[in-house]
Amino acid sequence: MYPIVRKEIFSPTVKLFDIKAPLVAAKAQAGQFFILRADEKGERIPLTIADFDREEGTITAIFQEMGAGTKRLGQLEVGDNILDVVGPLGVPSEIERFDGPVAIVGGGVGIAPIYPIARALKAAGNEVFAIIGARNKELLFWEEKMASVSSQLIVCTDDGSYGRKGFVTDALKDVYEANSNLNHVWAIGPMPMMRAITNVTRPWSVKTIVSMNPLMMDGTGMCGACRVQVGNETKFACVDGPEFDGHLVDFDLAMKRLSIYKDEEKRALAALEH
Ligand code: FES
Repeated sequence: MYPIVRKEIFSPTVKLFDIKAPLVAAKAQAGQFFILRADEKGERIPLTIADFDREEGTITAIFQEMGAGTKRLGQLEVGDNILDVVGPLGVPSEIERFDGPVAIVGGGVGIAPIYPIARALKAAGNEVFAIIGARNKELLFWEEKMASVSSQLIVCTDDGSYGRKGFVTDALKDVYEANSNLNHVWAIGPMPMMRAITNVTRPWSVKTIVSMNPLMMDGTGMCGACRVQVGNETKFACVDGPEFDGHLVDFDLAMKRLSIYKDEEKRALAALEH
Protein backbone atom coordinates (compact mmCIF):
# COMPACT_ATOMS: atom_id res chain seq x y z
CA MET A 1 0.00 0.00 0.00
CA TYR A 2 1.18 3.51 -0.80
CA PRO A 3 -0.15 6.19 1.56
CA ILE A 4 -0.96 9.73 0.46
CA VAL A 5 1.06 11.96 2.79
CA ARG A 6 0.11 15.38 1.38
CA LYS A 7 -2.70 16.71 -0.73
CA GLU A 8 -2.91 20.13 -2.27
CA ILE A 9 -5.89 21.42 -4.19
CA PHE A 10 -4.88 23.89 -6.89
CA SER A 11 -8.36 24.27 -8.33
CA PRO A 12 -11.63 22.30 -8.18
CA THR A 13 -10.20 19.89 -10.77
CA VAL A 14 -6.39 20.08 -10.40
CA LYS A 15 -4.91 18.28 -7.40
CA LEU A 16 -1.52 17.26 -6.05
CA PHE A 17 -0.63 14.17 -4.05
CA ASP A 18 2.65 13.33 -2.39
CA ILE A 19 2.67 9.55 -2.22
CA LYS A 20 5.01 7.52 -0.05
CA ALA A 21 6.71 5.17 -2.49
CA PRO A 22 10.38 4.93 -1.41
CA LEU A 23 11.52 2.47 -4.07
CA VAL A 24 10.05 4.57 -6.88
CA ALA A 25 11.43 7.81 -5.38
CA ALA A 26 14.90 6.27 -5.06
CA LYS A 27 15.16 5.72 -8.81
CA ALA A 28 12.92 8.44 -10.27
CA GLN A 29 14.41 10.79 -12.85
CA ALA A 30 13.04 13.74 -14.80
CA GLY A 31 10.84 12.67 -17.72
CA GLN A 32 9.73 9.34 -16.26
CA PHE A 33 6.26 8.32 -15.17
CA PHE A 34 4.48 5.82 -12.98
CA ILE A 35 1.17 4.00 -13.16
CA LEU A 36 -1.12 3.90 -10.19
CA ARG A 37 -4.30 2.08 -9.37
CA ALA A 38 -6.27 3.59 -6.52
CA ASP A 39 -8.15 0.40 -5.59
CA GLU A 40 -9.12 -2.98 -7.01
CA LYS A 41 -11.84 -1.49 -9.20
CA GLY A 42 -9.75 1.48 -10.26
CA GLU A 43 -8.33 1.89 -13.73
CA ARG A 44 -4.60 2.21 -14.26
CA ILE A 45 -3.67 5.86 -14.41
CA PRO A 46 -0.29 6.84 -15.88
CA LEU A 47 1.12 10.05 -14.38
CA THR A 48 4.39 11.74 -15.23
CA ILE A 49 6.53 12.32 -12.16
CA ALA A 50 6.13 15.95 -11.07
CA ASP A 51 8.72 15.76 -8.32
CA PHE A 52 10.39 13.31 -5.97
CA ASP A 53 12.11 13.43 -2.62
CA ARG A 54 14.55 10.59 -2.17
CA GLU A 55 15.06 11.30 1.56
CA GLU A 56 11.36 11.36 2.37
CA GLY A 57 10.74 8.53 -0.07
CA THR A 58 7.90 10.38 -1.76
CA ILE A 59 6.82 11.06 -5.33
CA THR A 60 4.59 13.92 -6.40
CA ALA A 61 1.69 13.55 -8.80
CA ILE A 62 -0.43 16.38 -10.17
CA PHE A 63 -3.51 15.44 -12.11
CA GLN A 64 -6.59 16.98 -13.60
CA GLU A 65 -9.88 15.27 -12.94
CA MET A 66 -11.10 14.46 -16.42
CA GLY A 67 -12.73 11.03 -16.33
CA ALA A 68 -14.14 8.64 -13.76
CA GLY A 69 -10.70 7.30 -12.73
CA THR A 70 -9.10 10.66 -11.98
CA LYS A 71 -12.31 11.90 -10.32
CA ARG A 72 -12.26 8.97 -7.91
CA LEU A 73 -8.57 9.52 -7.32
CA GLY A 74 -9.22 13.17 -6.45
CA GLN A 75 -11.64 12.12 -3.73
CA LEU A 76 -8.87 10.42 -1.75
CA GLU A 77 -7.43 12.23 1.24
CA VAL A 78 -4.21 12.29 3.25
CA GLY A 79 -3.88 8.96 5.05
CA ASP A 80 -5.73 7.03 2.34
CA ASN A 81 -3.76 4.37 0.52
CA ILE A 82 -3.14 3.86 -3.17
CA LEU A 83 -3.29 0.15 -3.99
CA ASP A 84 -0.40 -0.04 -6.51
CA VAL A 85 2.27 2.29 -7.74
CA VAL A 86 4.44 0.90 -10.53
CA GLY A 87 7.49 2.82 -11.60
CA PRO A 88 9.56 4.66 -12.42
CA LEU A 89 8.72 3.76 -16.02
CA GLY A 90 9.94 5.11 -19.34
CA VAL A 91 13.18 6.62 -20.50
CA PRO A 92 14.46 9.63 -18.52
CA SER A 93 14.85 12.99 -20.30
CA GLU A 94 18.18 13.32 -22.08
CA ILE A 95 19.76 16.07 -20.04
CA GLU A 96 23.11 17.55 -20.97
CA ARG A 97 24.82 20.90 -21.15
CA PHE A 98 23.64 22.23 -24.51
CA ASP A 99 25.46 24.67 -26.71
CA GLY A 100 22.96 27.52 -26.39
CA PRO A 101 19.93 28.23 -24.22
CA VAL A 102 16.95 25.91 -23.90
CA ALA A 103 13.26 26.68 -23.61
CA ILE A 104 10.75 24.65 -21.70
CA VAL A 105 7.03 25.02 -22.18
CA GLY A 106 4.39 23.63 -19.83
CA GLY A 107 0.68 23.88 -20.57
CA GLY A 108 -2.03 23.11 -18.00
CA VAL A 109 -1.12 20.05 -15.92
CA GLY A 110 1.92 19.76 -18.22
CA ILE A 111 3.51 22.35 -15.93
CA ALA A 112 4.00 19.54 -13.41
CA PRO A 113 6.24 17.17 -15.42
CA ILE A 114 8.14 20.02 -17.06
CA TYR A 115 9.36 21.24 -13.65
CA PRO A 116 11.84 18.41 -12.87
CA ILE A 117 13.13 18.64 -16.46
CA ALA A 118 13.78 22.38 -16.07
CA ARG A 119 15.48 21.76 -12.74
CA ALA A 120 17.74 19.08 -14.22
CA LEU A 121 18.58 21.27 -17.24
CA LYS A 122 19.52 24.14 -14.96
CA ALA A 123 21.58 21.86 -12.71
CA ALA A 124 23.49 20.72 -15.84
CA GLY A 125 24.49 24.34 -16.44
CA ASN A 126 21.99 25.40 -19.10
CA GLU A 127 20.33 28.78 -19.46
CA VAL A 128 16.64 27.88 -19.17
CA PHE A 129 13.79 30.01 -20.49
CA ALA A 130 10.50 28.82 -19.06
CA ILE A 131 7.00 29.43 -20.35
CA ILE A 132 3.94 28.18 -18.53
CA GLY A 133 0.36 28.66 -19.59
CA ALA A 134 -3.19 27.65 -18.85
CA ARG A 135 -6.67 28.56 -19.94
CA ASN A 136 -7.11 30.82 -16.92
CA LYS A 137 -5.50 31.85 -13.62
CA GLU A 138 -7.34 29.14 -11.69
CA LEU A 139 -5.55 26.40 -13.63
CA LEU A 140 -2.04 27.77 -13.08
CA PHE A 141 0.27 26.49 -10.35
CA TRP A 142 3.95 26.29 -9.37
CA GLU A 143 4.87 29.74 -10.68
CA GLU A 144 7.45 30.20 -7.91
CA LYS A 145 8.96 26.75 -8.37
CA MET A 146 9.29 27.36 -12.10
CA ALA A 147 10.87 30.78 -11.49
CA SER A 148 13.46 29.13 -9.21
CA VAL A 149 14.74 26.87 -12.02
CA SER A 150 14.74 29.31 -14.92
CA SER A 151 16.52 32.50 -15.88
CA GLN A 152 13.32 33.95 -17.29
CA LEU A 153 9.74 32.85 -16.74
CA ILE A 154 6.82 33.92 -18.90
CA VAL A 155 3.35 33.14 -17.54
CA CYS A 156 0.44 33.17 -20.00
CA THR A 157 -3.29 32.67 -19.74
CA ASP A 158 -5.56 32.25 -22.73
CA ASP A 159 -8.12 34.64 -21.25
CA GLY A 160 -5.65 37.18 -19.82
CA SER A 161 -6.84 36.58 -16.24
CA TYR A 162 -3.17 36.41 -15.14
CA GLY A 163 0.21 37.14 -16.70
CA ARG A 164 0.42 37.72 -20.39
CA LYS A 165 -2.76 37.19 -22.43
CA GLY A 166 -2.29 34.66 -25.19
CA PHE A 167 -0.86 31.28 -26.04
CA VAL A 168 2.46 29.75 -25.06
CA THR A 169 3.35 29.55 -28.77
CA ASP A 170 3.43 33.37 -29.01
CA ALA A 171 5.62 33.60 -25.91
CA LEU A 172 7.99 31.03 -27.42
CA LYS A 173 8.24 33.06 -30.62
CA ASP A 174 9.34 36.06 -28.53
CA VAL A 175 11.95 33.98 -26.70
CA TYR A 176 13.33 32.78 -30.03
CA GLU A 177 13.39 36.28 -31.48
CA ALA A 178 15.64 37.37 -28.62
CA ASN A 179 17.63 34.09 -28.58
CA SER A 180 17.96 32.65 -32.05
CA ASN A 181 20.70 30.33 -30.74
CA LEU A 182 18.03 28.35 -28.87
CA ASN A 183 19.30 24.77 -28.81
CA HIS A 184 16.39 22.66 -27.55
CA VAL A 185 12.74 23.05 -26.67
CA TRP A 186 10.78 20.77 -24.32
CA ALA A 187 7.00 21.02 -24.48
CA ILE A 188 4.52 19.16 -22.29
CA GLY A 189 0.81 19.75 -22.22
CA PRO A 190 -2.35 18.84 -24.10
CA MET A 191 -1.66 17.28 -27.50
CA PRO A 192 -2.98 20.27 -29.51
CA MET A 193 -0.59 22.51 -27.59
CA MET A 194 2.40 20.22 -28.19
CA ARG A 195 1.51 19.99 -31.85
CA ALA A 196 1.27 23.80 -32.10
CA ILE A 197 4.69 24.17 -30.46
CA THR A 198 6.28 21.70 -32.89
CA ASN A 199 4.75 23.62 -35.81
CA VAL A 200 6.30 26.82 -34.49
CA THR A 201 9.79 25.36 -33.98
CA ARG A 202 9.94 23.29 -37.20
CA PRO A 203 11.04 26.18 -39.45
CA TRP A 204 13.69 27.13 -36.87
CA SER A 205 15.13 23.57 -36.93
CA VAL A 206 15.27 23.60 -33.14
CA LYS A 207 15.01 20.10 -31.70
CA THR A 208 11.72 19.88 -29.86
CA ILE A 209 10.95 17.16 -27.36
CA VAL A 210 7.38 16.34 -26.41
CA SER A 211 6.06 13.94 -23.78
CA MET A 212 3.26 11.74 -25.09
CA ASN A 213 0.39 10.71 -22.85
CA PRO A 214 -1.47 8.02 -24.78
CA LEU A 215 -3.72 5.37 -23.29
CA MET A 216 -1.70 2.90 -21.26
CA MET A 217 -2.42 -0.51 -19.78
CA ASP A 218 0.55 -2.55 -18.57
CA GLY A 219 3.26 0.09 -18.99
CA THR A 220 5.84 -2.55 -19.87
CA GLY A 221 5.69 -2.76 -23.66
CA MET A 222 3.43 -5.85 -23.78
CA CYS A 223 -0.08 -4.66 -24.65
CA GLY A 224 0.56 -2.12 -27.41
CA ALA A 225 -2.11 0.27 -26.08
CA CYS A 226 0.33 3.17 -25.97
CA ARG A 227 1.63 2.99 -29.53
CA VAL A 228 2.62 6.21 -31.18
CA GLN A 229 3.76 6.80 -34.76
CA VAL A 230 7.14 8.55 -34.75
CA GLY A 231 8.56 9.10 -38.23
CA ASN A 232 8.31 5.76 -40.01
CA GLU A 233 8.35 3.78 -36.82
CA THR A 234 5.73 2.60 -34.37
CA LYS A 235 6.93 3.25 -30.85
CA PHE A 236 5.53 2.34 -27.46
CA ALA A 237 5.33 5.43 -25.27
CA CYS A 238 5.75 3.38 -22.09
CA VAL A 239 9.10 1.85 -22.96
CA ASP A 240 10.48 3.92 -25.86
CA GLY A 241 9.18 7.23 -24.50
CA PRO A 242 7.27 9.00 -23.16
CA GLU A 243 9.51 11.67 -24.73
CA PHE A 244 9.93 11.79 -28.50
CA ASP A 245 11.17 14.16 -31.16
CA GLY A 246 8.05 16.26 -31.62
CA HIS A 247 8.82 16.99 -35.27
CA LEU A 248 8.41 13.28 -36.05
CA VAL A 249 5.29 12.52 -34.01
CA ASP A 250 2.02 11.91 -35.88
CA PHE A 251 -0.21 14.01 -33.63
CA ASP A 252 -3.38 13.50 -35.71
CA LEU A 253 -3.18 9.76 -35.18
CA ALA A 254 -2.26 10.16 -31.51
CA MET A 255 -5.28 12.37 -30.89
CA LYS A 256 -7.56 10.00 -32.73
CA ARG A 257 -6.34 7.10 -30.60
CA LEU A 258 -6.84 9.10 -27.43
CA SER A 259 -10.53 9.55 -28.23
CA ILE A 260 -11.21 5.83 -28.91
CA TYR A 261 -12.75 5.22 -25.49
CA LYS A 262 -14.57 8.55 -25.21
CA ASP A 263 -18.03 6.93 -25.05
CA GLU A 264 -16.99 4.36 -22.42
CA GLU A 265 -15.37 7.18 -20.47
CA LYS A 266 -18.61 9.21 -20.59
CA ARG A 267 -20.60 6.21 -19.36
CA ALA A 268 -18.15 5.58 -16.50
CA LEU A 269 -18.33 9.23 -15.49
CA ALA A 270 -22.12 9.21 -15.57
CA ALA A 271 -22.19 6.04 -13.44
CA LEU A 272 -19.91 7.71 -10.88
CA GLU A 273 -22.10 10.77 -10.66
CA HIS A 274 -25.37 8.86 -10.11
FE1 FES B 1 1.15 -1.51 -22.92
FE2 FES B 1 2.77 0.51 -23.45
S1 FES B 1 1.13 0.47 -22.06
S2 FES B 1 2.72 -1.44 -24.39
